[in-house]
Amino acid sequence: MISKINSYALYGLEGKLVEIEVDINNGLPSFEIVGLADTAVKESKERVRSAVKNSGRSMPTKKITANFAPADLKKEGSTFDLPLAIGLLKASAQLVADTDEYVLLGELSLDGHLRKINGVLPILIAAREQGFKNFILPFDNAKEASNVGGINVYPAKTLLEVIDHLSGNKLIGKQEIVGFSASKGKEVYDIDMSLVKGQATAKRALEVAVSGGHNILFVGAPGTGKTMLAKCIPTIMPDMTKEEALETTKIHSVAGVLKADEGIVYKRPFRSPHHTATTPSLVGGGQNIRPGEISLAHNGVLFLDEMPEYSRATLESLRQPLEDGVITVSRVAGTVTYPANFILCGSMNPCPCGNFGSKDKECTCTPSQINKYKAKISGPLLDRIDVQVFVDQVKFSELVEEEKAETSEEIKKRVNRTRLIQKNRFSGEKILTNSDMGEKHIKKYCKLSPECEKILETAYENLHLSPRARSRIIKVARTIADIELCDDIRVNHILEAISYRHQ
Ligand SMILES: Nc1ncnc2c1ncn2[C@@H]1O[C@H](COP(=O)(O)OP(=O)(O)O)[C@@H](O)[C@H]1O
Ligand SMILES: [Mg+2]
Ligand SMILES: [Zn+2]
Repeated sequence: MISKINSYALYGLEGKLVEIEVDINNGLPSFEIVGLADTAVKESKERVRSAVKNSGRSMPTKKITANFAPADLKKEGSTFDLPLAIGLLKASAQLVADTDEYVLLGELSLDGHLRKINGVLPILIAAREQGFKNFILPFDNAKEASNVGGINVYPAKTLLEVIDHLSGNKLIGKQEIVGFSASKGKEVYDIDMSLVKGQATAKRALEVAVSGGHNILFVGAPGTGKTMLAKCIPTIMPDMTKEEALETTKIHSVAGVLKADEGIVYKRPFRSPHHTATTPSLVGGGQNIRPGEISLAHNGVLFLDEMPEYSRATLESLRQPLEDGVITVSRVAGTVTYPANFILCGSMNPCPCGNFGSKDKECTCTPSQINKYKAKISGPLLDRIDVQVFVDQVKFSELVEEEKAETSEEIKKRVNRTRLIQKNRFSGEKILTNSDMGEKHIKKYCKLSPECEKILETAYENLHLSPRARSRIIKVARTIADIELCDDIRVNHILEAISYRHQ
């Protein structure tokens, strides 16, 4: 007898239908899985065998063949335990049920409990688009699933519950669907721009960076507040749109970092991988089948504290995604592309002792030590960091200043205004912020007066800028003009943009 159960696999963020056919006949007792199933699927055999027995059912002592179709798509993960077990019970006539209308997802533990799986959100969205309405999945995925409207979700704790539900003995309660709202209200952060005293230049630079989606590097001695400033970035970024939140949640779901009680990620991500992080953990791929830190930072911030401490290879791996906003990683199953559009925020000391450039502390490093230290971050990578700002120690008088500094909320209002200008400007284009502009957009939206051109030319020669740096200066100047509500890029905008370049 042959049974067929619907399930889903993920390729990147894309969900694809997998039909699990189980055939049982009177050959020598065996249990084979055909199709390009990987080790994870083979391990699934053992879990299914135990779970079936521990649920009071029996493994047929016959020739069992399971086919995961389509066979040309290589499957990974443990999502297929549940459909495989149900298929097996149906094919061996231990379960009589009509399962055509269902999609089954879930990993089984040896005792027959259902375990949380990764990627439920993108799977449900894809399956819904293909017309599926009924889903049985692990209880711990219920909260995540409740964000997808227009479907019936039956969260189950054990294989036995699923058997009872499908046979009609005892139905599983339907998960309440809350659907997806744009925001669940105001996000609370434990840091605020008003807590950062003094540092007017660094704060201005931060606002410029966030307003236009530019990358930013803080250079300064230890203890000057670089980390504090970086942590403020999400507090002044615009609230995520529905699309952004959904996309970020999909990535977090696939990566398995969504907690069971977490539905949608509304907060802008702030990821700060340690400097010992490997390249695959940062960009994804390798042995690691999950999206990397740069994709987890999608629509948010990737903070690399003490940037020169990261390995050269790891830093260089950021170059392509910084340019493209996506990362293509190779996996056993082939290549997949994950979104990776984030603001890169780096911090570093100006020199090994930390005091170079300080107004009141003396640097004890030799010029060659300083150069060697700075060279740890390659020119091409530095080129992609539009806003580079020196952070000096805040004066004592500023630190104890009672006067209230601008709050993140106030700054965010301006950022929102500047983002709106960009949104309107690029309404016919496929980009959102000034930093996304390509050469064609720069030509169209960043006309420069002869005076501005002249200043740029002088800077290009004196600061030995690359053509890429030149374009990026213009983009930052565009952002500064937008903050000032100026249609035209003026001399002072260009000068400020250049000032963020010569660290
Ligand atoms: N401008 C500032 N205003 C208020 N507190 C500051 C400021 N700069 C530094 N601090 C204090 O010093 C601590 C260390 O700052 P941190 O951001 O970790 O410095 P860095 O990353 O540059 O080494 C902060 O947690 C904060 O308490
Ligand atoms: Mg720090
Ligand atoms: Zn020094």
